[in-house]
Amino acid sequence: MITECLYGLLGENALLYVSATFVVLWIVGWLYRDSLVIENVTEKYVFVTGCDSGFGNLLCRKLDGKGFRVLAACLTEKGADDLKRVSGPHLKTVLLNVTCLDSIQKAMEWTKKEVGDKGLWGIVNNAGYSLPMGPTEWMKVEDFHKTLNVNLNGVIAMTVAFLPLVKLARGRVVNIASVLGRVAANGGGYCISKFAVEAFSDCLRRDIHYFGVNVCIIEPGFFKTAVTSLDPIEKELHRLWNQLSPEVQASYGDKYLDKYINIQRFIMNGICDKDLAKVTNCMEHSLTAAYPRTRYSAGWDAKLLWIPLSYMPACVVDIGLKLVMPRPSKSV
Ligand SMILES: NC(=O)c1ccc[n+]([C@@H]2O[C@H](COP(=O)([O-])OP(=O)(O)OC[C@H]3O[C@@H](n4cnc5c(N)ncnc54)[C@H](OP(=O)(O)O)[C@@H]3O)[C@@H](O)[C@H]2O)c1
Repeated sequence: MITECLYGLLGENALLYVSATFVVLWIVGWLYRDSLVIENVTEKYVFVTGCDSGFGNLLCRKLDGKGFRVLAACLTEKGADDLKRVSGPHLKTVLLNVTCLDSIQKAMEWTKKEVGDKGLWGIVNNAGYSLPMGPTEWMKVEDFHKTLNVNLNGVIAMTVAFLPLVKLARGRVVNIASVLGRVAANGGGYCISKFAVEAFSDCLRRDIHYFGVNVCIIEPGFFKTAVTSLDPIEKELHRLWNQLSPEVQASYGDKYLDKYINIQRFIMNGICDKDLAKVTNCMEHSLTAAYPRTRYSAGWDAKLLWIPLSYMPACVVDIGLKLVMPRPSKSV
């Protein structure tokens, strides 16, 4: 009946008009909902890990500027002192190594005293480590350990320890994954750890939403920070190469390492974005929006390249990487 009336009124394009109106209303509704923000940020506590440098450091300064009670965890005393110097009186620092359970316990006890019965509005698991990155065959099992310890075990241990405080505030867990947690583009512990952070966050969200806790995943593309710094990446590639047996080295050929490094340079110099605010804006939205998103992709390379690639068949990524990466001399 309704369809017939619409058909009578609008003619044969009725379905098109109705669909277009529905889509426009849905987009407007989504944008409106996405723009709603929380109140009383000056009474909310946010704990951020890995604040010595990079995204964590910038996020703390921005949250501090917005009036949040920022609890900034730094790995080093120098990092903590430098951050204190450029921030307001409401930002407090604490030393934290996310790979050490004792250090996590101490940071949690300190936080519990700071937040009192308000609980913790947000925990941002940002601390990360990326090296070594390189061909999987070049790695020893120990080469995976540090990255997995910081990026995966650290995120899990921090979340488990701090979750009761977040639950008290009906707050948010914000986990920093990566586009390399969507597309496995290089060997080493990094991609593995970030895929695992995605899975851990999805499981946690599905379990904890009953208590009003939101879990958000930030997926940055490539940005210019210590994690993407070329010197340490190249130093580690040389170390990996030097630990290979002469037979394995011969299978790649003596030009392979230089070619591999040149491609890393080309990619990092070409793709890395200097504007870290693209990532911290997503982190801020996850902490200030009334309805935070489940996933945030930060950076043009994430939105236009990596995330679309992640939905494609594996053979598309296989072929793409085969075209970009050098070929071992004894490949078949
Ligand atoms: N940059 C990118 O392109 C990119 C892309 C996707 C995702 N990410 C992720 O974003 C997060 C922040 O990285 P970033 O790019 O801002 O690099 P960053 O400047 O190196 O930040 C990482 C921070 O984690 C700290 N950290 C390292 N090991 C730690 C440990 N065991 N315990 C506590 N803190 C530790 C580092 O301290 P020190 O400085 O003292 O070593 C540093 O402050 C990481 O999770 C990273 O994987 C980065």
